[in-house]
Amino acid sequence: MKIRKSVESERKEILNIHNQAFGEDKDPEIAKLVDDLLNDITATPILSLVAIENERVIGHILYTKATITQTELAISAQILAPLAIHPDEQKKGIGEKLINEGIRQLRDHGTELVFVLGHPGYYPRCGFSPAGEKGFEAPYPIPEEHAAAWMVQALNGNALETANGKVQCSDILNEPQHWRE
Ligand SMILES: CC(C)(COP(=O)(O)OP(=O)(O)OC[C@H]1O[C@@H](n2cnc3c(N)ncnc32)[C@H](O)[C@@H]1OP(=O)(O)O)[C@@H](O)C(=O)NCCC(=O)NCCS
Repeated sequence: MKIRKSVESERKEILNIHNQAFGEDKDPEIAKLVDDLLNDITATPILSLVAIENERVIGHILYTKATITQTELAISAQILAPLAIHPDEQKKGIGEKLINEGIRQLRDHGTELVFVLGHPGYYPRCGFSPAGEKGFEAPYPIPEEHAAAWMVQALNGNALETANGKVQCSDILNEPQHWRE
């Protein structure tokens, strides 16, 4: 299995992975979200990585630009969404490898903070911890019972200790339907 940046000619394969992982019947919105994000100029810089095995895409992760508003500081931030592994390939550590490779590349590029809205049982093993208690608000309010799902990780600098504010995403990811349960 190898991980590398995705190429445009793989887009259909990537969308298929999301449909299979999330269930096309249950959540066809996710593949559309990925498709739209890959076209969204306000999402750049985008980091789109694929996991490849036997020349097949078996996993995909997307990191897109985030902005911290209500702060004087210019903070370089990204948000992880979404992540999908082919159902036959789950629980083999591929998700974790995709997350960590993305984080390594973002760190090398000077990204300071990475956010994610995801399962609090999964992302902390890759270095994420609750963002709300650090003073970083999500684009839309997260219900109290799901507060732990809104997470952040610092890659460079000390913004996590010195700043706070509200996170805004790209035009597409800022749409309210992506923040509902
Ligand atoms: C969630 C997902 C990306 C994890 O990728 P993966 O390659 O299967 O995960 P890894 O092998 O790195 O890690 C497996 C561990 O994560 C746990 N895990 C997987 N999905 C989980 C979830 N939704 N919530 C909590 N834990 C989860 C597994 O139980 C396993 O735990 P263990 O190591 O203690 O046994 C993958 O299962 C997937 O594509 N699921 C469907 C789409 C989805 O829910 N994406 C996440 C959006 S936030």
